[in-house]
Amino acid sequence: MSRTLVFAGNWKMHKAPADARSFFDEFLGRIAPAGDRRIIFFPPALAVPTAVEACSGRSDVEIGVQHIHWEELGAFTGEISAGMARAAGAQASLIGHSERRHLFGETVGETGKKLQAASRAGLLPVLCVGETIDERRADRAEQVVREQLEPLLDCLRGNGISRDRVMVAYEPVWAIGTGETASPDDAQEMHARIRALLDEVDAAHVPLLYGGSVKPENASVLLSGEDVDGVLVGGASLEPSSFARICDAR
Ligand code: PGA
Repeated sequence: MSRTLVFAGNWKMHKAPADARSFFDEFLGRIAPAGDRRIIFFPPALAVPTAVEACSGRSDVEIGVQHIHWEELGAFTGEISAGMARAAGAQASLIGHSERRHLFGETVGETGKKLQAASRAGLLPVLCVGETIDERRADRAEQVVREQLEPLLDCLRGNGISRDRVMVAYEPVWAIGTGETASPDDAQEMHARIRALLDEVDAAHVPLLYGGSVKPENASVLLSGEDVDGVLVGGASLEPSSFARICDAR
């Protein structure tokens, strides 16, 4: 039986609501629903309602947010809560994306609180982990990834979140937006390590996505790794034609 592959698009700070609408007008015409493919978009929060409406009727396409706060409400200027995202139709949330960690100072402790907040509100958390180039050169990649995974392993040990509604994305920081991609062997090797850590908490089946300069040209070879269950795509998810080609990769 073929496995279900996940194709996720992280639009970062791109696309106002009208741009999201024109993206889906074209993209949904290019991609027919397929039982073995799950597609998730992470538009900027302001474009979420438009994206949700444009994709209604397509059960293979889900919409998520890029970021949430762990509190439900309060004096947190500029933030949105998991419950608000859910109420706007979002079904998932990225957590711990490297840009949040490195540009905005998100800590490992905060990612733990966000994992629980997402799960409580009924959002699928997609925890992003990955080492910097200095950490890789210092042979610390595995240790860094293990530390970043710890809040998730902790939640799973305590049954704080559902094993069936969570994903992990391995995104080496040096491969994000740089055109440098981890080799398929490097990606598979780290995915196998992440899988082994998840196995220790009976969660080996959690889907593992690879991210970092994924393009139509390299998606198939990256997905050939047996522990690579999908891709998280930034730049190449902004164009309907390029993301549709990625979603057709097998
Ligand atoms: P990229 O971004 O595909 O543009 O490298 C990936 C990501 O940051 O999720």
